Amino acid sequence: MSTLDWNSLGFNYRKTNTVLTTVYRDGKWSPVKSQNEDKINLTVCSPSYHYGMSCFEGLKAFRGKDGKVRIFRADENAARMKSSCDFLGLPCPTEEMFTEMCIQAVKENLDFLPPYGHNASLYIRPIIITTDPSVNLVPQTDGIMFMVFTFPVGTYSGGQVLQTIKTVVGRDFDRAAPHGSGRFKVCGNYAGAMFAEREAVRMGYGDVLFLDPATHTYIDEFSSANFLGIKGNDYITPLSDSILPSITNKSLCQIAEDIGMNVVRKKFTLDEIEEFDEVGECGTAAVITPVSVVDDKPTLRSNTITKSYAFGKNGECGPVCRKLYKHLTGIQFGLIQDIHDWCIVL
Ligand SMILES: Cc1ncc(COP(=O)(O)O)c(C=O)c1O
Repeated sequence: MSTLDWNSLGFNYRKTNTVLTTVYRDGKWSPVKSQNEDKINLTVCSPSYHYGMSCFEGLKAFRGKDGKVRIFRADENAARMKSSCDFLGLPCPTEEMFTEMCIQAVKENLDFLPPYGHNASLYIRPIIITTDPSVNLVPQTDGIMFMVFTFPVGTYSGGQVLQTIKTVVGRDFDRAAPHGSGRFKVCGNYAGAMFAEREAVRMGYGDVLFLDPATHTYIDEFSSANFLGIKGNDYITPLSDSILPSITNKSLCQIAEDIGMNVVRKKFTLDEIEEFDEVGECGTAAVITPVSVVDDKPTLRSNTITKSYAFGKNGECGPVCRKLYKHLTGIQFGLIQDIHDWCIVL
């Protein structure tokens, strides 16, 4: 077992024991190779570098109170990677292969799977890139590399769990184009959102909230997490074809239903959140990160705040987000019965 300080991991890459790779050529995947080195040798002309021909996933493995290791909803990540590959025109590993490689990666890196009790986990990053040289703007069908690597993570912010963040609306920036690639986990989406994200952080915010790119009327999502709102007994989350279908959000919707809440998926405007009791962002990395403030401005970098929406008492996480967080992580750490069979138990 590694001797890392499990309480202060944050969300940062560190090298672990092994990286798994396989390459698709002539209609089949090569036998999986496990290597200690976390570097690969690539042509200068990979379309992944030049044209963003790549997609990835993110999921987590947890060490439970019962000592068992659980991987959360790998089948959902496999399905989402398939949709990203189909969009890019790339071959994709089957669900079985995706899952098997995630399991192998976790088993080979158990030294880095945090012990129970630190709100920490092993992040699993499957990624697809192209390894044959090409400058042509055509989908690649050969030399496709699928890699899986892992690293231990704590909270996204590096602080305590359920610490609230302040956010700002990115009125003059879009994360994705209307009818574009926003609903796929393709690498290019992330470069496109980074400028707005960096400017928001420079101004002291934790994240940017993007509006729907077609009309800038409805709430879409944060830079790398979905939006959730709580209003009375309603769990409200945006309906949009330009947001990433979050597996955490899907799970929280199910949990909300399981505990007797109404789940509402709809288009809603920024004004409507004034009525919300709680707001949060959700994702594999963010889990639930409660939002204390959403500032609206004429433009992202403006010094004028048009309207400030505040949530929670004294800037603290509200009771429903706390309850949902406890339920979700309870399933992941084996404290609450996994009635929907979401976890693969190793
Ligand atoms: C843009 C975006 N939205 C939402 C999410 C949350 O998705 P998930 O819960 O599947 O991690 C992520 C993270 O993967 C993301 O990058």
